[in-house]
Amino acid sequence: MPVSMAVNQNIVELEYAVRGPIPQRAAELARAGRRTIPCNIGNPQALGQSPITFYRQVLSFLEAPTALARERRFRGAFDANSSAFLGVDESDFVDPWVIEYCEKMLGHLGSGIGAYTDSNGPAFIREAVAGFIDRRDGADSGSGVPADPDSIFLTNGASEAVRFIIDLLISDAADGIMIPIPQYPLYSATIKKAGGAQVEYHPDEEKGWTLDRAILDDAICRARDRSITVKAIVIINPANPTGAILPAEGALEVVDFAEENRLAIIADEVYQDNLYGAEFVSFAKLVGKRDIPLFSLHSTSKGFHGECGRRGGYVEIRNPIDIEGADVRLRDLFFKQASVALCSNTTGQALTYIMVTPPPEGSPPHGRYQREKETILSALQDKATMIREAFEEMREVECFGRTGAMYLFPRLGRLPGGKTDFDYCMALLEETGLCTVNGSGFGQRPGTHHLRIAFLPPKEMLDQVLPDWIAFHNAYVQ
Ligand SMILES: Cc1ncc(COP(=O)(O)O)c(C=O)c1O
Repeated sequence: MPVSMAVNQNIVELEYAVRGPIPQRAAELARAGRRTIPCNIGNPQALGQSPITFYRQVLSFLEAPTALARERRFRGAFDANSSAFLGVDESDFVDPWVIEYCEKMLGHLGSGIGAYTDSNGPAFIREAVAGFIDRRDGADSGSGVPADPDSIFLTNGASEAVRFIIDLLISDAADGIMIPIPQYPLYSATIKKAGGAQVEYHPDEEKGWTLDRAILDDAICRARDRSITVKAIVIINPANPTGAILPAEGALEVVDFAEENRLAIIADEVYQDNLYGAEFVSFAKLVGKRDIPLFSLHSTSKGFHGECGRRGGYVEIRNPIDIEGADVRLRDLFFKQASVALCSNTTGQALTYIMVTPPPEGSPPHGRYQREKETILSALQDKATMIREAFEEMREVECFGRTGAMYLFPRLGRLPGGKTDFDYCMALLEETGLCTVNGSGFGQRPGTHHLRIAFLPPKEMLDQVLPDWIAFHNAYVQ
């Protein structure tokens, strides 16, 4: 007879729709040989997005420093006597600038990438991240507050940073974290696992998922009526699942709100490069010199980088909270959490370094890097437009807000009696192979129905599947 034990009920109850029953059914269909299109998750390389060449060149030389030494030797021999190398020209070698970049990194790493690093990540990478934040926010030219490398922690993707923050802030069941609805289920799941309370606020869908003070005030008042101590507010900008990009005025209202209510801001900025012409203003810049605790997150998974499997990312902490009842600093507690896992994975750390120090303008690999980046971002924008155009041919489907991140979150205004958005997405999968996620998996206003689609499939695949989706939809909802 199997041994039976009680287990953590929070884990039993937590839900994670992006890996839930619909994707699980898609996996079954794929195993049975059906064509499926995994639009349930922002995993660009699973849908054929090419990695940035520069990233992979550097990573491969970090993995195999002997190949780097060999490349240098052969290049030296070629430069000395190119006529001895029949059929070989300069383009067969990796650019010396790249070789030097890798050698510099290996020099900093000392023991290569196979050794544990400091728990918060190597200092040279944290310094590079701080430099990136300062350039992005203009703090390097005197405006704003420079980032402190010692307040940066390299993490296994942004997901781990979210766990560190929420596990630390939730001290009992009455502690709450404000999250947008709809939200990326990492937040609800992590709050649930930590045993805290989810405090929902509802961006205004019809105004493009924007925010104002009344929305935030209403949410915090309702939480206080339930005797919840609200500790922090999560802002995902650009947003997942809605793709909305928060205008600077809305973001400033969040900053004022956090200051007045003495909350920390958790700014999830993993989509800061997925803007498609809109402007991104970081919360670090908006907070400026105000004494508001801020955790900002970034990742190598999203943007045009798309290296989800590498698990690179960081959290930057500003204006750390004082810890009540203990003579310890927030930073020490983060360090302790990071130490429990010894360090984040070194490939992710290396990729974080490469992401924040790409080839600068004027360097030989810059042109190709820039071209690849622009190609990926403009294809993403085109694909979002193709899907939006398909919505126009579907009865009572509306998609609010401008395009950001990697997702569209259309409202299904009409479903057959008794059917939910989960039923719709499951039927869509069975009929067309398109794997999306039901809106209820992210939270939504009662009585509304949505789905989320990641706009990642290649255009040719969209050309094939969108007409099928339109036909499916109009037949399903009639
Ligand atoms: C808003 C948001 N935050 C965090 C993450 C986690 O990213 P990572 O791969 O860096 O853990 C995701 C992943 O999709 C996301 O959409």
